[in-house]
This record gives sequence, C-alpha cells and structure tokens, in this order.
Amino acid sequence: MQEIESLAKLITESRRIIVFTGAGVSTESGIPDFRSPGGVWTRYDPEDFTIERFVSNPDSRRAFWRMSAESGFLARAEPNPAHYAIAELDRLGRLDCVITQNIDDLHQKAGVSSEKVLELHGNMHWVVCLGCRRRSPMLDVLPGADEEAEAPVCCECQGILKPDVILFGETLPVVTLKEATRRAQMCDLFIVIGSALLVYPAAYIPTYATGAGARLAIVNLTPTPLDHEAVTLIHGKAGEVMSSVMERVRLRLAGDLS
Ligand code: APR
Repeated sequence: MQEIESLAKLITESRRIIVFTGAGVSTESGIPDFRSPGGVWTRYDPEDFTIERFVSNPDSRRAFWRMSAESGFLARAEPNPAHYAIAELDRLGRLDCVITQNIDDLHQKAGVSSEKVLELHGNMHWVVCLGCRRRSPMLDVLPGADEEAEAPVCCECQGILKPDVILFGETLPVVTLKEATRRAQMCDLFIVIGSALLVYPAAYIPTYATGAGARLAIVNLTPTPLDHEAVTLIHGKAGEVMSSVMERVRLRLAGDLS
C-alpha cells in the first residue's frame, strides 16, 4: 500500500517524532473507544461524568466507580501491535514523546518510558483524594462492581476519592499540556493514531506542530477534521497499519529499500 510506504519513508527521514494517540489505539486491546458505534458515550451519558456531578451527586459517583470497576479490565488490558510499534520507534531513538488522551497506561506497558508519555487526561491506575490530595494506586481502592458498592473514600481523611483522570469540566494538567504544546512545536513529524480529534484542547496540539513546520500523518479508522492537512493519511486499523509501517521502516534502515 502506497501510504504505508510513504509513512515509513517519513519516519526514516525524521529524528524528532511525536505520536499523538486517542482511544482508537487501544480498541484492539479490548478497550472500547468513546464515539464509535458501541463506544462508551453510546452506553453512558457524558453528563454523568462531569466533575460537578461527581463531586455533588453520590449516585453519579457510585455510577462512575461502578463503570470503573466494570472497566477494571483496564488493569488487565494488554498492549496491542500498535502500542508495540510505537515503542519500537522509541527503541530506534526517533520518538521524542507520546502525547496521549488515553488513561490506560498501555504505552508504558508496551515499553515506552513513563517520562516520554505525556498523559493529557490522566491515568486510571491512580486515584486522588479531593480532600487531602493523597494519591494511591487504583487497585488498593477499587470497590466491587456490584450495584450496591459504595464509592470509596480516603482512608486518611474520609474525603471523596476520584480516579486520577480528567472529567468533563476539569482543566487538563497545566504542566503536561504546556510541555505537550512546547514539544509539538519542536518535532519534525507528528503522527496521530486512533483519535477523532474532536475534544479540545487536546485536538489543538496537532495544529501547533504543523503550524511550526512539522509534517502530519494520520492513522485512523474514520475521517478526522485534520485529514486535509496530513501529508500521509491512512484510514485503517492501527495495529495492522503500524505493524506494516514498522516492517518497512526496518527494511529501509537495513538499506534493503531505495
Ligand atoms: N484503529 C484505528 N482507529 C481506530 C480504531 C482502530 N483499531 N478503533 C477506533 N478508531 C478510531 C475511531 O474511528 C475514532 O475516530 O479512533 C477514534 C476514537 O475517537 P474517540 O472515540 O472520540 O476517542 P478520542 O479521540 O480518544 O476521544 C478524546 O474524548 O470523551 C473524551 O476523555 C475522552 O480522551 C477522550 C477524548
């Protein structure tokens, strides 16, 4: 496929690559995305997942924790070939960082060092107390998924515990967002994988990269609002596409391809 070759060529010509990922990079690990048919927002109401509701309404909190317990499989989810392809970019010394909207820790699990994973929306494996700000591992507090399970409270101050992820209405972690913006403006290739690019401010980041002269590549099952700006656009499954791309990169780097 011509586009596979084109992305492989872009990668071998680039030294400071940023990979920007959304939920679509993890669907092949069994984690549903948000806006595809059957996605999270086709089964849950995003209105129930605002920070305001979470703090003020115990029922919303219980529902959120029940969903977290159901999606407790997040802890058991394994990286898929797309995550491993991105980790290979890191091993090749060409990955500047991963900027992810995902909370599933799968880039780290696939081998990308944590300091190279900028998590715009937090990480589901940690919880934070809204009272004393104490941070602890999710596995230490996750209640049962049964209907009656009460939302857990802080063992130190009995405050409200919240998974360390960004809910609607919350501001993104300022330091992480600033660093992601700064790095985007210094990269030479910006690859979007598995995001609808519909949620801001995250969706501005690819445009900071192109505005500073980086080339843009997009790998996504369905069209995105930035498709017209991509020098290489591949509508396909992230795992299959990125595995094929890295195969061609290895051949190019071994000199077996002109
Ligand atoms: N390969 C490639 N693309 C895929 C795959 C796949 N296997 N599976 C799904 N996709 C694409 C879908 O076509 C869709 O365009 O990934 C995209 C996922 O888009 P969303 O579900 O909107 O997820 P995302 O872009 O990460 O959403 C951003 O919205 O609700 C908030 O906080 C939530 O971080 C999330 C943010």
